[in-house]
Amino acid sequence: MDNRPIGVMDSGLGGLSVVRVIQQELPNEEVIFVGDQGHFPYGTKDPAEVRGLALSIGSFLQRNDVKMMIIACNTATAAALPALQDKLPVPVIGVIEPGARAALVQDKKGAIGVIATTATINSGAYPAAIENLAPGTPVITQATQPMVKVVERGQTGTSTAQEVVDEQLAPFKDQPIKTLIMGCTHFPFLAPEISRTLGKTVTLVDPAKETVATAKKWLEDHQSLGNHVHPQYYLYSTGNLADLQAGVNKWLLSGKFRLEIAEIKEGD
Ligand code: DGL
Repeated sequence: MDNRPIGVMDSGLGGLSVVRVIQQELPNEEVIFVGDQGHFPYGTKDPAEVRGLALSIGSFLQRNDVKMMIIACNTATAAALPALQDKLPVPVIGVIEPGARAALVQDKKGAIGVIATTATINSGAYPAAIENLAPGTPVITQATQPMVKVVERGQTGTSTAQEVVDEQLAPFKDQPIKTLIMGCTHFPFLAPEISRTLGKTVTLVDPAKETVATAKKWLEDHQSLGNHVHPQYYLYSTGNLADLQAGVNKWLLSGKFRLEIAEIKEGD
């Protein structure tokens, strides 16, 4: 048993889609979440800059004595997973390999689509992970960076959100897919809009579920599960607490939350 918290990070509110799954699947765990709104977005930044930011957040989480870190951000996973695994003395889990695995278990014939930030698509991390697990699988990738801001601005469920999603997913009209990996942690909050655009025949894959399953298995295998009856969720933003509060109200299950601003700079 290990009652230390699980550390989770994202560039913003998207990581809450992973915290929500932790609430469901690991209900006795405490969480320290950092939403790096002060440096949002990551998806348009250079990978070296994203790596620097992710390493600083890793140090912050380590100072807060986490037992594991989940990079709840595809862009940061693509840019910094090995660097964080090297630096931290605790296990570090990313979302891309679990996302690829989750798409492949669908076992549908046809291409797998991937939507993600510009940086994640440019990294080639998803096609590489899929090729590694199932060589020869056709993959169609599409950078859909404008969808990130829709979520961060709290516009999910609006006509603006639907318009942006329709426009961003238009390339899939000519390139049919059977499965779509939502390769940015902001996108599961747009799942209703994405489904309306692509139709019911396309299965949407949220990497969060497989990511949290991977974390749970490691904690079980290492006798490191927590046993908090009423776990505390420590939620930090490097930017805007009001936006973080709005995201918590909209997307998380009920729980004991403490929201605070964290000062984290590159190089910390
Ligand atoms: N939510 C992040 C991801 O999964 C990044 C979004 C952004 O900051 O551009 O890639």
